[in-house]
Amino acid sequence: MLTLITGAAGHIGTCLHQELPRLGHRLRLMDRVRVEGTGIDQVVGDITDPGALARAMEGVHAVVHLAGDPSTSASFESVLGANIEGTYRVFEAARLAGVERVVFASSNHAAGFTPRQESAPADTPVRPDSLYGVSKAYGEALGRYYADRYGMRVACLRIGSFEPRPPDARALSTWLSPGDMVRLAHACLTAPDLTYALVWGVSANTRGWLDLEPGRALGYHPRDDAEVHAAGLPVLDPADPDHAWLGGRTVES
Ligand SMILES: NC(=O)c1ccc[n+]([C@@H]2O[C@H](COP(=O)([O-])OP(=O)(O)OC[C@H]3O[C@@H](n4cnc5c(N)ncnc54)[C@H](O)[C@@H]3O)[C@@H](O)[C@H]2O)c1
Repeated sequence: MLTLITGAAGHIGTCLHQELPRLGHRLRLMDRVRVEGTGIDQVVGDITDPGALARAMEGVHAVVHLAGDPSTSASFESVLGANIEGTYRVFEAARLAGVERVVFASSNHAAGFTPRQESAPADTPVRPDSLYGVSKAYGEALGRYYADRYGMRVACLRIGSFEPRPPDARALSTWLSPGDMVRLAHACLTAPDLTYALVWGVSANTRGWLDLEPGRALGYHPRDDAEVHAAGLPVLDPADPDHAWLGGRTVES
């Protein structure tokens, strides 16, 4: 079974295309930038180009859709291209090619204007904190539509902070380690009962407040905890936006 990764040259894409083959996944890569290396099955192209997407989807069983502008300060023009038009083109090309399953990289910023609470369910209502967050909420809505209308199996990952180690105090709650990103993608690509799911893409962080149960129900069992990297990072004041809001200081930018 062949899985297409869009945005394969990026941070998360590189992690996944290096590690998923060890778990038995056969991959095709797509990005507007060439992925260097030999013997790579890849299509270099833009996800707003239906022709390039049709070539990329040939023989594909599942898609991990990562390509897009990942910046919380992205302009409308920027999200309009890759995140809005591109995400529609990816779902539609997948449908036309008979792809069974799509894993979509959403973001915590789709619900970033949610005040901190004891535990935030993975289906926390949409409350974007930026045009970027709006574009991710739109991607989740597209996924819901393709699942309901066409029976596609869709997992939307509300990813927290994907980094080799937590970069700041907020990430002690929101960190997603590279190893757990691979485990999450593997679970979503193989879960037999997936219909439509919204899950938090975070590790098992001691200070986490994002509910991991929906991910566990799909077979995602995170192993990493940001706490082991906590030394030297400040304890956040409750009034600090990085503590007070799901999306952190993005709510003020
Ligand atoms: N890194 C995080 O912490 C994080 C958190 C939440 C969500 N996400 C989402 O995960 C996805 C991947 O994030 P990342 O950190 O790897 O980003 P990245 O910028 O490192 O990678 C994105 C890749 O997409 C490609 N791309 C962009 N526009 C394209 C287009 N129109 N056509 C083809 N390729 C295109 C880029 O060339 C790049 O290689 C993004 O959708 C991002 O919004 C990331």
